[in-house]
Amino acid sequence: MATTKITKEQWAVSESFIAKIKEDNANFAVKNGRTRLAHTETYGCQQNVNDTERIRGMLKKAGFEFTDNAEEADLVIYNTCAVRENAEQRVFGRLGILKHIKENTNPDMMVAVCGCMVQQEHITEKIKKVHDHVDLIFGTHSLWKMPELLYKTMTENGVVVDITQSDGSIAEDVPILRDKDEKAWVSIMYGCNNFCTYCIVPYVRGRERSRKPEDIIAEVKCLVKGGTSEISLLGQNVNSYGKDLDIDIDFADLIRMINDIDGVERIRFMTSHPKDLSDKLIYTMRDCEHVCKQLHLPFQAGSDKILKQMNRRYTKEKYLSLIDKVKKEIPGIALTTDVIVGFPTETVEDFKETLDIIKYVRFDNIFSFIYSRREGTPAAKLDFVLTDEEIHKNFNELLEVQNQICLEKNLEYEGRVEKILVDGRSKTNKSLMAGRTDSGKIVNFEGTEDMLGKYVDVKIVHAKQWSLEGEILR
Ligand code: SAH
Ligand code: SF4
Ligand code: F3S
Repeated sequence: MATTKITKEQWAVSESFIAKIKEDNANFAVKNGRTRLAHTETYGCQQNVNDTERIRGMLKKAGFEFTDNAEEADLVIYNTCAVRENAEQRVFGRLGILKHIKENTNPDMMVAVCGCMVQQEHITEKIKKVHDHVDLIFGTHSLWKMPELLYKTMTENGVVVDITQSDGSIAEDVPILRDKDEKAWVSIMYGCNNFCTYCIVPYVRGRERSRKPEDIIAEVKCLVKGGTSEISLLGQNVNSYGKDLDIDIDFADLIRMINDIDGVERIRFMTSHPKDLSDKLIYTMRDCEHVCKQLHLPFQAGSDKILKQMNRRYTKEKYLSLIDKVKKEIPGIALTTDVIVGFPTETVEDFKETLDIIKYVRFDNIFSFIYSRREGTPAAKLDFVLTDEEIHKNFNELLEVQNQICLEKNLEYEGRVEKILVDGRSKTNKSLMAGRTDSGKIVNFEGTEDMLGKYVDVKIVHAKQWSLEGEILR
């Protein structure tokens, strides 16, 4: 289906509801002596984080303020993920707690659940049945309609539900309220066409649709004007950007266009699918001075048998030859990946091939997951070869091998001088500032608040498994 934007008229309807909610919120404030508060929680990937930024953008425009404390909120929104069962269980757990709060201390609280999880009908049915304190449910395709749906929730009785599928539409005009100034996520495409057999994403996010380059460029220029210098381009498979557009453009072309924008210092992107990683993209990464030396290239499994059953459409040999090429063209590049352990038909021998790749490539970091059965996907019908216990044993072995590699990779940084973009306080020690290297490593160092958003040079004095310690050079 061709990609179309939602029309100006459609967005105008949403804006008219934003105005109505704003009026209602103003009346509430007069009556109660305080502004209505919203609380948002995001599960899942950066795409969801970016969607929450849009939700918050719309809520802000409608006169809401925000709180980190769900208990005192007038509106709680959970933006959910369906990729693994534990992500769903966490949301169900949170909904249970909210039920208690709503019954005992905050009866007027509105509860909304949105995102990937509720795009699955059986989940929405379960929420309606088991969690009747939920007032609003809307799926990934209905994000831009949230103002209308929320207004309905505020003014009518009963649960409001919109999980319609509307493949092919992109909402360009939705306002965004971002968390940080110096770094921004920019979605360049939505959906996925790959149908890896274990994965629910294509079912809950719909088919691939690329944003028009002029819209992306306009957003980046606007961000730069507001002080942003690091842009992370987002999509489930950025390497197939542009294939659905009626102009001749691919991801490498888009990167070059962004690289040329004044004020863009760093460009990152995720996620790349190995089957679509072209030589052109590798050369573009090498040649564009603002593209960070970092590549996230999920391989998922090492055995060709499992890769085939996963429908990944590359072999172990192909993957490793890509890695060799990337390392040759961009020396020192930091590599990260995603791995699934315990795909139903995976044997111990298959798993050993996953370990082979880990040991050969020596990734800077990996995101490893135990396979989680997703209803409606082809792999859900397969029988398991290994027991839970055997799968966990393999998983732990993988972690052990990788943890050592992570530390060794970080040790290579000791003594080096690195330019970092300071982006906040250290998560582990609030008296320190933190930032990231070009390659994406976290560096904690003694610094001051006024460094926020700036690039500073630090000398790496100590490497740990998950972060580096640095000393600022003056
Ligand atoms: N589009 C990206 C990844 C999206 S989901 C890509 O193709 O690389 C993020 C990661 O979750 C995947 O890379 C995969 O490792 C993991 N994942 C997806 N479905 C899963 C499942 N059913 N069980 C366990 N892990 C899964
Ligand atoms: Fe899921 Fe595969 Fe699409 Fe990634 S490429 S989102 S793993 S189906
Ligand atoms: Fe999860 Fe949806 Fe992202 S399923 S991983 S939040 S696209």
